[in-house]
Amino acid sequence: MREPLGCKSLFLIGFMGAGKSTVAAALSRLTGIECVDLDSLIVQQVGMSIPEIFCHFGEETFRRHEAAALASLADGQSRIVATGGGVVGREDNWTCMGRQGVVVYLQASWEVLIERIGSGEGRPLASGQERERLMNLWQSRLPLYERADLIVNADHKSPEDIAHQILTACANRRSPDEQSR
Ligand code: S3P
Repeated sequence: MREPLGCKSLFLIGFMGAGKSTVAAALSRLTGIECVDLDSLIVQQVGMSIPEIFCHFGEETFRRHEAAALASLADGQSRIVATGGGVVGREDNWTCMGRQGVVVYLQASWEVLIERIGSGEGRPLASGQERERLMNLWQSRLPLYERADLIVNADHKSPEDIAHQILTACANRRSPDEQSR
């Protein structure tokens, strides 16, 4: 049977507030494929909240847990994975995602992101940060996000519309021969 995604797994990347988790849930509803939120998996595996991990051990340790959680999903099973905004910073994460499926960048404007991030509660790299520093972080990551296999604009669209757009784009990535099967 043809894979509903046209690939093994989908990895949603993008800055905080891009809507990765809600779009992953919408994709899961549409395809029946399990969705996994990488941050929730880290919390489950480590037994601490994300702010606690940052506060007690620092960002580097969080990044190691993040890479380990991502690697734990490399079992050949099909999934829709909502990653954290900083997953793109490590080359081994790219290798891992590339081996398992297609990487989709949920692109959103700064205005939309900052409105959704709000006070940054639960997001250690956003809470209590000056806007300018957060904007610098976003800008420094843009070239990394743009390495994705697919780029989908997520501004002012419902999660369902974005999910449909992603599925169509995935289908179009397949050869006409594969699509007719
Ligand atoms: C982070 C984003 C967060 C979370 C952690 C670090 C980042 O996930 O992984 O706070 O570096 O951008 P979301 O993108 O889901 O907020």
